[in-house]
Amino acid sequence: MTSRPQPLTVPAPSLARVTKQPAGHRPADLDTSVFLADMIAGLSKSPKQTSPKYFYDARGSALFEQIMELPEYYPTRTEMGILSAHAEDLADFCGPNCLLVEPGAGNLAKVRLFLKNLRSPAGFIPLDVSGIHLSQATHGLRLEQPGLKVLPVCADFTAGFSLPQVPSDRKVVFFPGSTLGNFEPHEANRLLASFAQVAGKNGGIILGVDLRKHPSILVPAYDDAQGVTAAFNKNLLFRMREELGAELDPDRFSHRALYNEELGRVEMHLVSTVRQTIQLGRHIFQLKAGETIHTENSYKQDLAELVARCESLGLRAERILTDSRQWFAVLCLSVGKTA
Ligand code: TRP
Repeated sequence: MTSRPQPLTVPAPSLARVTKQPAGHRPADLDTSVFLADMIAGLSKSPKQTSPKYFYDARGSALFEQIMELPEYYPTRTEMGILSAHAEDLADFCGPNCLLVEPGAGNLAKVRLFLKNLRSPAGFIPLDVSGIHLSQATHGLRLEQPGLKVLPVCADFTAGFSLPQVPSDRKVVFFPGSTLGNFEPHEANRLLASFAQVAGKNGGIILGVDLRKHPSILVPAYDDAQGVTAAFNKNLLFRMREELGAELDPDRFSHRALYNEELGRVEMHLVSTVRQTIQLGRHIFQLKAGETIHTENSYKQDLAELVARCESLGLRAERILTDSRQWFAVLCLSVGKTA
């Protein structure tokens, strides 16, 4: 489970299966051949569906930061309000000499809200697939909190990960942003179980989740007036073209967000506006006019249901923190304490 401290390294892209060496090529943080294989697998599905983790290269991560500032995108603001209002509760939950781990850490804005409240923390380990993004964010945090041991790891947390060994009294995994909702329920369960394993006995998980609410609030959060979310969604097409040498025209796709009431999730799609093809390596994919590539889900949680699910995984909700409108919740879960 553990390994020696790892330096922050960005794996060099493997170009073995890339058909074209594109102009202005940026190094991919995730292996290019895996990206290619995943895109081929996704476009071969019916209906077409791709993995959301490929949104987050340097450009995608920058667009995502803009999303978090949008007036329509309430989750970040709401969650940050909860985290700052309850910074002391979170520090209590973590306890002294705690090693905090954040999978998919991004810009570290959320953890900053209570990191200063922790009592003699053992360290902080941010994980992210975007190495460039991670090193920039980590640099800023180190300047701000020189006394804190910050050990960034460039990794895809969905693939399982090992942590640098740091002596601590308790490990807590911080997983905010309703990222859990970007996984299918059975995958989300597996992910929570893997976090519980990382945290170990006596460990904890701080989980931020978006709650169910009316579609008139939900949908605009994923389809903003300025088109930033559309650009974020389309970034996948640009990456396929630039990094995988795909033959496609991003202008012939449009962004769509909808609320699937039955499944309790917001869905994002790329809609083919015309009949066209995507050529990827030796593969040619046909798209009808109006056909979509399903690029992401964002499941919205029912609080009681989620707490029961956590219990079934051996995670006990010690504290449930919410905002006044009950739009978002932060759960403090303890490992191995089922009722
Ligand atoms: N997990 C967050 C959510 O589902 C953030 C997010 C992931 C997101 N992908 C997104 C937000 C795409 C907007 C668009 O809300």
